[in-house]
Amino acid sequence: MKLTWFKKGTIYQIYPRSFNDSNNDGIGDIRGIIEKLDYIKSLHIDIIWLSPIFSSPNDDNGYDISDYCSIMPEFGTMEDFDELLKETHKRGMRLILDLVANHCSDEHNWFEEAKKSKENPYRDYFHWRKPAADGGPPNNWMSFFGGSAWEFDEVTGEYYLHLFTRKQPDLNWENPKVREEIYNAMRFWLDKGVDGFRMDVIPLISKRIGYPDAPNVGFRKIIEDVYANGPTVHKYLNEMNEKVISKYDAFSLAEGVGINESNAGLYVDEDRKELDMLYHFDILECTIVNGKFEEVSPFDLIQIKHIFKKWRDAIHGTGWIANAMGNHDFARMISRFGDDKKYYLESSKMLMTMMSTQNGTLNIYQGDEIGMTNITLQSIDEVRDIQSLNFYKENLKTNKYSKELALEMINKEGRDNARTPVQWSDEINGGFSIQEPWLKVNPNHTTINVKNQENDPDSILNFYRQILKVRKDHDVFVYGDFEEIEFNNPSLYIYKKTLGEEKIMVILNFESLKGHFEYNENLNEVNILVNNYKGLEIENNRITLEPYQGVVLDLG
Ligand code: GLC
Ligand code: CA
Repeated sequence: MKLTWFKKGTIYQIYPRSFNDSNNDGIGDIRGIIEKLDYIKSLHIDIIWLSPIFSSPNDDNGYDISDYCSIMPEFGTMEDFDELLKETHKRGMRLILDLVANHCSDEHNWFEEAKKSKENPYRDYFHWRKPAADGGPPNNWMSFFGGSAWEFDEVTGEYYLHLFTRKQPDLNWENPKVREEIYNAMRFWLDKGVDGFRMDVIPLISKRIGYPDAPNVGFRKIIEDVYANGPTVHKYLNEMNEKVISKYDAFSLAEGVGINESNAGLYVDEDRKELDMLYHFDILECTIVNGKFEEVSPFDLIQIKHIFKKWRDAIHGTGWIANAMGNHDFARMISRFGDDKKYYLESSKMLMTMMSTQNGTLNIYQGDEIGMTNITLQSIDEVRDIQSLNFYKENLKTNKYSKELALEMINKEGRDNARTPVQWSDEINGGFSIQEPWLKVNPNHTTINVKNQENDPDSILNFYRQILKVRKDHDVFVYGDFEEIEFNNPSLYIYKKTLGEEKIMVILNFESLKGHFEYNENLNEVNILVNNYKGLEIENNRITLEPYQGVVLDLG
């Protein structure tokens, strides 16, 4: 296993629209990010991942790109970007961009040409099919955001494929010209000095030959077997690596949609020369049974233990994974996995203790470092996310749930939870902007905000700083051999990690009650590296944990 900068690094994900608004138009921007680089550095971050900043009509907030080599005017100019890159590097951090290569925007010049006629030279940049015999879509594929994945085009009388919204037509990767276009866009940014890419839904680029109907199984299974992992995906990722990534000191972080432990190695085993790191979804999706806005299962610690174990085993010594508990596509981590009320501080810190002591690269999503929570939107007019809006609209047609329940589900699971503006202070709009922001600021910004937490040594923010520093100083946090203790304990997560001379033990209490743990050695003398409480009750070999207490002991 090669030790490289991106494995040990901690990634901080920025959703630019919601991060910081420098010119007070209600929309976060690149200069707003520059203003906060010292703040990010103060968290001991190594790599910044920016969600898309390219020109886009914003049907899916930048994940629908209309020009891969330009900056969205709302976010600023190319000069702003160049400055951001320079200032990031100056502080010893790296910057990666979000490469959305599976689809572009229907307002991209390629698609505007392609839909003109069947003979247009850009026609074959996309997936076009004749209607089925009854005039309907060519097969039963569903969009990830609801409804058919096919949209009829009146002009040429054919359907085009869009696995996401109808304004996100899928690119045809079988066409070598398409691949060259994407590689050129990558080269454009890499030549500027960016350090790599997070690759949006990359396992979807290769489509099943003949576009066969999906079987009647759960959506997750359909993704694995029908939409993702197509026949040519590895050929093209290999080509991308050879022609582009390998020529630079850059890395690729694969969004692992549809990847499971049995095929992960095909994407990220080092000797296969495809992608560098797999961002798996298992933690993020652990309470989602099939798809969003469907059945939700309760949080289960044993399941979490299995997930981490499964991934350690799957890629042990050959590939690399990234772990995340929050991002721009899911509700807030503290609201989902912790207790965002009584044990708010304790559970936030305990979850972070778990995340930062796991093997793999750690991803932190903006705002989680101050424990930002879900928001309750009062009406559908306040909802901005296209996935939630599509769900709501579809539901109006089917009447499966009442309107009230549909909104409740959106408030519980919707992506806007993670996209509310970052709460910098208790001032108007949380200090994000003077102007009314594009999405409501969480009213709890009056208490939960960066400014308050800066001055409080016991804040979540300062805890993140502390533990990330410890992680940086101790390789065992990232690379250590893992030994589970009491695997079947449903309340405590306990493990030892060893790397050379370094030996730590992590003990985490996932309950709002005290927890007890007996170890086979005397623990009285051990040194406590990290603790989310002031003290720890140890009596010889017996430890008593407070509600949501989490500690890292130095056994070395
Ligand atoms: C990824 C992104 C998500 C986006 C989708 C389509 O899952 O994380 O935000 O909507 O791809 O590009
Ligand atoms: Ca702005």
